[in-house]
Amino acid sequence: MSLLEVKGLNLRYGDKQVLYDVSFTLEEGEILCIVGESGSGKSSILYAINGLLPANSEVWGSIKFRGKELTQLSDRERRNIIGREIGMVFQEPSTYLDPLFTVGTQVEEAYTTHFPEDKNPREKALLAMKRAGIPKVEEKFNMYPHQLSGGLKQRVCIAISLVCEPSLLLADEPTTALDVSVQKRILSLFRDIRDTGKSVILVTHDFGVVAEVADKVVVLKDGRIIERGDVYDIFDNPREEYTKLLLSAI
Ligand SMILES: Nc1ncnc2c1ncn2[C@@H]1O[C@H](COP(=O)(O)OP(=O)(O)OP(=O)(O)O)[C@@H](O)[C@H]1O
Ligand SMILES: [Mg+2]
Repeated sequence: MSLLEVKGLNLRYGDKQVLYDVSFTLEEGEILCIVGESGSGKSSILYAINGLLPANSEVWGSIKFRGKELTQLSDRERRNIIGREIGMVFQEPSTYLDPLFTVGTQVEEAYTTHFPEDKNPREKALLAMKRAGIPKVEEKFNMYPHQLSGGLKQRVCIAISLVCEPSLLLADEPTTALDVSVQKRILSLFRDIRDTGKSVILVTHDFGVVAEVADKVVVLKDGRIIERGDVYDIFDNPREEYTKLLLSAI
């Protein structure tokens, strides 16, 4: 059984269809990159997986996580899986941080929600913050979001997504706000995660990022997968003109 199996996924916001018959699978210990231009539906795929779609949306097709159909989950089942088994780094991280709480508290709370019995959540939070590449974590722990740069907020969000050690991490352009050295560090963290048998879906429009971390790639255009393959195939032998065009941008 694959870790994640997406089959014939379609999505509509109101009467605007944005995903058409999207299918792919992800195994344990794999990094899949979803690439495509702005508006092609990359984020929408991640939202469909974690069930964060707006009320006016309609989704059909199947998304199975460890054989369990995610599109049919009750709210309660969803709460047990999302954040615990499936972590998410959002495209606009700062909007997901609460301005009224210190960032450390927010990382800690992401953990205690799922592990209320743990006696030392602060330690887990600090460790996740360190893994996410935040310097001087003890000091940053007590800061509020507005006291941190965009790049640091991004890393706090990465820490939140990792603190429960999910088996699937969904990361939406997670390195966009980061300078090159921090970006390298985050990509190397994703490779470490993969090497422990966990999996990552990484949304990016940067083929440089793809080259550094991907095992498999799907190319999305106007809501459809137009090309897929392992990373070497895509770089050495792109079939679609559109993929060649994206590749020529690096
Ligand atoms: N809540 C929504 N209601 C209506 N349309 C939406 C909504 N969210 C996204 N869309 C539309 O769906 C399409 C796909 O959007 P999506 O955000 O998934 O693309 P994306 O590939 O992630 O783009 P980007 O690279 O800019 O982040 C776009 O045309 C977008 O305008
Ligand atoms: Mg997006």
